[in-house]
Amino acid sequence: MAQRPYIVGNWKMNGTRAMLSEARAIDRAAQRHMKVEVALAPPYTLIHAVHREVEQIGVGAQDCHPGAEGPHTGDISASMLADAGAKFVILGHSERRADHNESDELIERKADAALEAGMRVIMCCGEDARTRDSGKAEKFVLKQLRASLPRLDDAAERLTVAYEPIWAIGTGNTATPEDVGQMHTAIRGLLVELYGQEEGAEVRILYGGSVKPENARDLLSADEVGGALVGGASLTADSFMGIALAVGETPEA
Ligand code: 13P
Repeated sequence: MAQRPYIVGNWKMNGTRAMLSEARAIDRAAQRHMKVEVALAPPYTLIHAVHREVEQIGVGAQDCHPGAEGPHTGDISASMLADAGAKFVILGHSERRADHNESDELIERKADAALEAGMRVIMCCGEDARTRDSGKAEKFVLKQLRASLPRLDDAAERLTVAYEPIWAIGTGNTATPEDVGQMHTAIRGLLVELYGQEEGAEVRILYGGSVKPENARDLLSADEVGGALVGGASLTADSFMGIALAVGETPEA
């Protein structure tokens, strides 16, 4: 079954209530572009407010704690996020792996916790420039994913993978569609190995890293690319929905 392209905005550590108007504008535009599935992951502080303001788009979080509750000052559990209106959580982002020293093992536990709380998971992976230059990118990414992906029985049904080469994030550099297609094809092979032919084939694989309205069509036409995880260009409705339009959508209204 062909799935709609999935375009997810990751606001990272950006956004105050003043940005709710952008979320509303994104939602209104998404209602006119139903051939694309649009979602936003605002910072924790805006999840509930965005959830209340929007009708069409999915709302998610950028991280969660692996535990359900307890003495973890400053942390937020998956069930708390679900209660605030989040339907998915981004896990294993390279910024969290770097800033918070997150291991593959911790990330897998977070993924299990999110699935157990009824949420969907967007699992990120990606190599740095040195690994790419040494020709070991594919090996690195598959190892990282193999160790981070959730193994619960129905995990694949609620899983999305995002390939985000670190050297392409926030830099204006993007991988070539050929490199993206090659990596996504390798990731597809791993998903089929881990989850079986049918379920592994249905997991969407997003590309992330300096996706903009101008390059989205090319990147999204690469093999096995099911959408985009967008940072900087998701902060305004104009550029974010420009990406949705560029992936081949014609407005219905
Ligand atoms: P940019 O689109 O700003 O490069 O960020 C990509 C990303 O990290 C999305 O999660």
